[in-house]
Amino acid sequence: MEHTDLAAQRPPGSELLAEQVDAAERDLLAAARPQRRAVGQASFDALIDGEHKVEPTDWMPEGYRAGLIRQIAQHAHSEVVGMQPERNWITRAPSLRRKAILLAKVQDEAGHGLYLYSAAETLGVSREWMLDALHEGRQRYLSFINYPTLTWADVGALAWLTDGAAVVNQVTLCRSSYGPYARAMVRVCREESFHHRQGFDALRVLAAGTPAQRAMAQDAVDRWWYPALAMFGPPHNRSTHSDRSMAWKIKRFSNDELRQRFVDICVPQAEVLGVRLPDPALRWNAERGHHDFTEPDWDELRRVVAGHGPCNRQRMDHRRRVHEDGAWVREAATAYAAKHHGGPQHSTAHQGAPAARQGLPA
Ligand SMILES: [Fe+2]
Ligand SMILES: [Fe+2]
Repeated sequence: MEHTDLAAQRPPGSELLAEQVDAAERDLLAAARPQRRAVGQASFDALIDGEHKVEPTDWMPEGYRAGLIRQIAQHAHSEVVGMQPERNWITRAPSLRRKAILLAKVQDEAGHGLYLYSAAETLGVSREWMLDALHEGRQRYLSFINYPTLTWADVGALAWLTDGAAVVNQVTLCRSSYGPYARAMVRVCREESFHHRQGFDALRVLAAGTPAQRAMAQDAVDRWWYPALAMFGPPHNRSTHSDRSMAWKIKRFSNDELRQRFVDICVPQAEVLGVRLPDPALRWNAERGHHDFTEPDWDELRRVVAGHGPCNRQRMDHRRRVHEDGAWVREAATAYAAKHHGGPQHSTAHQGAPAARQGLPA
């Protein structure tokens, strides 16, 4: 059972998402333009209207810069704090093969955090500033991370559903108007699709197993379905940043459109797996050409975002502790860089409000 060919078990619909990432990458290469700096609102508007990418040295409105910093930093924090729910299972994976896959996946998430912190740094904030903002509760990470992983089946369900939701969201971010973010997303999406597939495969083995394994798979799907749906954020009419973000082409689709796309992709995949999605109202609507479904409990999402989810405290305590424990590594890396490249390598970007751009070319 364990030695299955992952390529033969591709979740239905995943090819389409991979093709969209390839197409976005081709367009990114085609959109590369000679180093001509945009100066002022009119040249920025021309970049957005002409589907060109905004680059770090281009002039940009402060709202665009601040919105991107908020979004990319939240995304980076989610990758890094998001390692915790799965890390719990690395030492308890049921086979060497599953352990190696899970270890690789958790390491990938650390890498995604690094690409994204680097992308945010191009906007004039330092990594230290972003991490302080996370640790002091001024910036957030995705709410699903605050739920516990109770059984091995959670590792499969978490990856199938939340990495699957991440792919649906991030495939569209490969076309974001900010160049460094779009390019980071192409790389992240390729790895996320592997995460999604390994979760699907782990769950498929359990769902085809003994009655106890099948029950464990179903229980995990029951608990992760709504946290995954909530990942797309509140409905468009309740979302604070959506309109501006879409006008600037940072986001290309509303939270509701992406959530619908995710539900439509999951239904045939659940059928292949033989698991039930925990929504009695879920059914095909021929008129709309989409599935009808029950929205997540937005009050619960608000409570979890405000810090009252089952694991918020545990996740942040752990994050702060490992950050403090890792201080000597940062100091050693800084000293090593100073020795080999001449001069201290502390970030020249500012430590304060994101509106400023200290340390970057004007
Ligand atoms: Fe990731
Ligand atoms: Fe992932």
